[in-house]
Amino acid sequence: IEQGELKYTGKAKEVYTTNDPDILWIHYLDQATAKNGKEKEQIDGKGQLNSAISHLLFDYLTQQNIKNHYLLSISKTDELVQALEILPIEVVTRNYASGHFVSKFQVTPMKKLTPIVQEFYYKSDALDDPFINDSQILALGYAVADELIYLRQEAQQINQLLSHLFSTINIQLIDFKLEFGRTASGSIILADELSPDNMRLVDLTTGDSLDKDIFREHKGDMTVGYHEVLDRLSHVK
Ligand code: C5P
Repeated sequence: IEQGELKYTGKAKEVYTTNDPDILWIHYLDQATAKNGKEKEQIDGKGQLNSAISHLLFDYLTQQNIKNHYLLSISKTDELVQALEILPIEVVTRNYASGHFVSKFQVTPMKKLTPIVQEFYYKSDALDDPFINDSQILALGYAVADELIYLRQEAQQINQLLSHLFSTINIQLIDFKLEFGRTASGSIILADELSPDNMRLVDLTTGDSLDKDIFREHKGDMTVGYHEVLDRLSHVK
């Protein structure tokens, strides 16, 4: 397979075409952003950490029969994925109150949420990813009703699987964001990356953040937390 031209630059990744129209080439950058890209910093080694963690989590979900775009890693920072039409919707799942849920509702951080909370956001840098509800998604044609049901079910199942996996390595999955895309045949599968950039992870014993909150809240070297996550995931039996 050969790398083609740069198709898109995200906040922490570059996406390239390949000589196969059904396959895209993802390159993970040594870069962290916060406040939807308004704060940006180079972080050496971060690309490799995200790539490795995402690889392990996609492999785990594949074993658990969750369809996803991940194909294979071709270097420590590069991977091949299935080309999809990405839905302009971010699916956020919350098990415990944190981040924007705390600032919006002024509830106690880490309050357990029963039932779990699912939220949709419209993917738009220009608009700062606004909250969007089901009928807004339908009226704007971003997805159809059956697809919304599927997104909610899939996110719930992924939440159960990842929460369980992390609990076995003494980590609590607080919340996370997923993205999905449509295949040429019209089915929807999990896309994007699965890393501490997109999920809040807390050490069950110490309560320490092991995710991008370290960077967002200027609590030190984020790669220390990411290394810890990777190290524990690598030792899952
Ligand atoms: O900021 P907020 O509390 O809404 O974030 C909820 C979860 O979704 C966090 O784990 C955060 O990392 C993730 N998220 C993301 N990308 C966004 C917004 C949130 O990965 N654009």
